[in-house]
Amino acid sequence: MTPDAPLLQLSSVTKHYGGLAALNQVSFEIARGDIMGLIGPNGAGKTTLLNVISGLAQETSGTVLFNGGDITSLPAHRIASLGIARTYQNIRLFNEMTVEQNLLLGRHTRTRSGMASSLLLLPRQRREERQLRDDTAALLQRMDMLARRDAIAGELAYGDQRRIEIIRALAADPLLLLLDEPSAGMNESETEQLGRFILDVRNQGVTILIIEHDMNLISQVCDQVVVLNFGEVISQGTPQQVQSDPLVIEAYLGQEED
Ligand SMILES: Nc1ncnc2c1ncn2[C@@H]1O[C@H](COP(=O)(O)OP(=O)(O)OP(=O)(O)O)[C@@H](O)[C@H]1O
Ligand SMILES: [Mg+2]
Repeated sequence: MTPDAPLLQLSSVTKHYGGLAALNQVSFEIARGDIMGLIGPNGAGKTTLLNVISGLAQETSGTVLFNGGDITSLPAHRIASLGIARTYQNIRLFNEMTVEQNLLLGRHTRTRSGMASSLLLLPRQRREERQLRDDTAALLQRMDMLARRDAIAGELAYGDQRRIEIIRALAADPLLLLLDEPSAGMNESETEQLGRFILDVRNQGVTILIIEHDMNLISQVCDQVVVLNFGEVISQGTPQQVQSDPLVIEAYLGQEED
């Protein structure tokens, strides 16, 4: 594998739900260290694509290469352990647990001892546990959330829950981070802060694929953007290029009620 090979490479990825082609022959690649935007009207297939990459949905045909290996048919936990982490369009935190407990669960996909044996609290696990708590504290600090460490996740403001979800994904120390509409429910200044955080994450060496409806955020952070419509790639380029592409403008005109 050459160092400048793409981190993620999708070839002719197709996903059928019954008679519906949610994805049809989707091909594109993401260079290491890039932030790739994924946009398109409602129902275009964006979340389905994240589900296929992360192993939550099985593609009907096509291949997905990640970091030099074929991950096409791997189950979700194997894909996670290879270094792909994600957030969800609908927040999935453990509402009754504290912020820190949620983050420690995110971290356990990548530790040696794993969940079950860490409950036995052997010396190595105790050391690992301490290290984990320090790491999660550092992550919280970076997103201005350290004061919320012992808060009950379900009681946090919506924007804060979104932030915690991203931090939980980062706690797994991924090579590739998949974000599904991370700014949903955030106001303008929260969204700007999110943009700075995403750039900071990339600068730490994490490659990012982000689904977003907020074009300001897309323009702020993305190197490249792929546009889906009815499951097909209709445009790709810089944020500026895709926004002035007549095919893209036409696709969005069809759903003006948004
Ligand atoms: N599990 C499923 N079973 C059947 N159809 C599905 C399933 N998941 C998605 N679909 C359909 O696939 C198409 C793409 O859905 P998807 O959720 O990927 O769109 P999206 O681009 O993420 O939309 P949005 O912007 O609204 O989140 C839609 O027509 C949707 O109804
Ligand atoms: Mg979606």
